[in-house]
Amino acid sequence: MVQFNLPENSKVLKGNYFKDTTGSKNIKKVNIYRWNPDKNENPKIDTFEVDLAKCGNKVLDILNKIKNEIDPSLTYRRSCAHGVCGSCAMNVDGVNTLSCMKSHKDINGDINIYPLPHLKVIKDLVADLSTLYRQYESIEPWLKIKEQKYKAIEINQSKENRKKLDGLYECIMCACCSTSCPSYWWNGEKYLGPAVLLQAYRWIIDSRDEERKERLKTIADKLKLYRCHTIMNCTNSCPKGLNPAKAISSLKKMLATN
Ligand code: SF4
Ligand code: SF4
Ligand code: FES
Repeated sequence: MVQFNLPENSKVLKGNYFKDTTGSKNIKKVNIYRWNPDKNENPKIDTFEVDLAKCGNKVLDILNKIKNEIDPSLTYRRSCAHGVCGSCAMNVDGVNTLSCMKSHKDINGDINIYPLPHLKVIKDLVADLSTLYRQYESIEPWLKIKEQKYKAIEINQSKENRKKLDGLYECIMCACCSTSCPSYWWNGEKYLGPAVLLQAYRWIIDSRDEERKERLKTIADKLKLYRCHTIMNCTNSCPKGLNPAKAISSLKKMLATN
């Protein structure tokens, strides 16, 4: 059998152990991926003993507690803390999720926290999303209208047409779906991935947009769209309960029938 080994400097090593100093009886062990580009060292897993008696319910509360009270160098993204901005996406307990939405009470045993998978790591839990943002920009996620007069006045939309955007407009571009998609892992430079395709579909079916045909033509590409093999990891991982796999199959259907 063929065996693949990581290069020596990519092997994840055992890191530091931060023992509880409070004497609390409610301690949780939290294992966190660490990598610092400024140090010429392998990535490592640090373990923190965290006093849950004095901690909020979410995984983000644990990270904030570690940063504020144990190791200020711990690096991760967060902003809204309410599942709105998408910046705290990471892999918790083997699943891509928003750390501000994920309750640590649901996790038995140690908590393992890694950056979103299959992306370059910038530092610790911060993954490099620049390719995904470039792809997002490529689908031109804004209303495109040709009629000059509509550029100055409000464009009305019927309730029925507005309803078609439900399940799409709620997407916060957190990238949990794209980074759980095997097709995106292997072809991330070319395949647009579920997050960007859901966004593409959102603009294509907006009744106010006047470039539906051009938008469809842009994504009708065997690598950009048809790399989706309906594996459904994306839908299973969306912390907002959206269904990118369905949006992708709707796009394929539109292309087949247009
Ligand atoms: S359904 Fe398509 S986009 Fe979703 S995980 Fe599978 S291959 Fe990726
Ligand atoms: S579809 Fe869900 S998982 Fe994917 S980017 Fe949008 S909110 Fe995140
Ligand atoms: S911090 Fe904004 S979604 Fe989690």
